[in-house]
Amino acid sequence: MQRKSQKMENEKQHIGSLFDRIAGTYDGLNHGLSLNIDRLWRRKAVRQMQPANKVLDVAIGTADLTIEMLRQEKVMRVTGIDLSRDMMAIGKKKVEKLKEKGEKSKNVEFLYANAQKMPFADGFFDGVTCAFGCRNFSDLDAGLREMYRVVKPGGQVTILEFSYPKNRIVRRVYDLYFSHILPFIGRIVSKDKTAYSYLNRSVKSFCWGEAFVQHLHDAGFREEHFRELTFGIATVYTGVKPLGC
Ligand SMILES: C[S@@+](CC[C@H](N)C(=O)[O-])C[C@H]1O[C@@H](n2cnc3c(N)ncnc32)[C@H](O)[C@@H]1O
Repeated sequence: MQRKSQKMENEKQHIGSLFDRIAGTYDGLNHGLSLNIDRLWRRKAVRQMQPANKVLDVAIGTADLTIEMLRQEKVMRVTGIDLSRDMMAIGKKKVEKLKEKGEKSKNVEFLYANAQKMPFADGFFDGVTCAFGCRNFSDLDAGLREMYRVVKPGGQVTILEFSYPKNRIVRRVYDLYFSHILPFIGRIVSKDKTAYSYLNRSVKSFCWGEAFVQHLHDAGFREEHFRELTFGIATVYTGVKPLGC
C-alpha cells in the first residue's frame, strides 16, 4: 500500500511530463471513451459559474473548459496555467481555430505555472476554475489555498472532478471502466504503458463529495456547494471567498 502511494507521489511530481506524453491522444480518448459526456459535464460546470471578467483556469490542459466558458459568454478574459506545455500547445491551437472561425475573439493566455505556487498577486482574478486538475496535485490543500489567495473577495471557485458513484450497479460499471477499459484502450492508443493506469489510480484514490468540500472550507472558501453529475461519476464544487478577506 505504502509502495503504491509512493509510486503515485512520484508520478505527481512529474505530472507535466506524464501529460506531455499523452497530449496528442488526450482529447480523442476523453471524448471517445466518455461518449462525449465529459463535454456535458464541462457545460454544466460552467453553468454554475458567476459571470466574471478575468478568470484563472487552473490546469487548463487542452482548454476545453476555457472554450466552454467562452461559448457560454461567462468570461471576458481567461488566463490558463498548466505544467504540460504539450497539452497547452493543443489548447492554443483550438483557441486560435475559434478565432479563425470568426467567433468572438476573447483574450486567452496560456502560462506554464504550478497550481501550488502561482505567479499572481493576491485577489488578482474575479473567478477561478479547475476541471479534472485537482486530483493530480501533489498537495491538494496547497493548490486550493493558492486558488483562494488569487481570487478576489466575493469571487467564486468552480471545480469539476471525478467522484465515486453511490449506486452499486453504476459503481461496478465505473470500476470496470476505470480499472480495465480506460487503461487498456489508453495504453493502445497513446502507446504509453503507465499514463492511463495512473489516471485510473488517481481517480480512485481521490476524495470526493463532503470530504472534498471540507478541503475547500479549510482553504477558506465559504458558501460551499456540490452537485453530482451522471450518478456521481463527476461532481461540480463551488465556493466563494468571503468579502473582507
Ligand atoms: C486531466 S487534465 C485536465 C485538463 C483540462 N482542464 C480538461 O478539462 O480537460 C489535467 C491537467 O492538469 C495539469 N496539472 C496537474 N497538476 C498541475 C499543477 N500542479 N499545476 C498546473 N497544472 C497541473 C496537467 O498537466 C494536465 O494538463
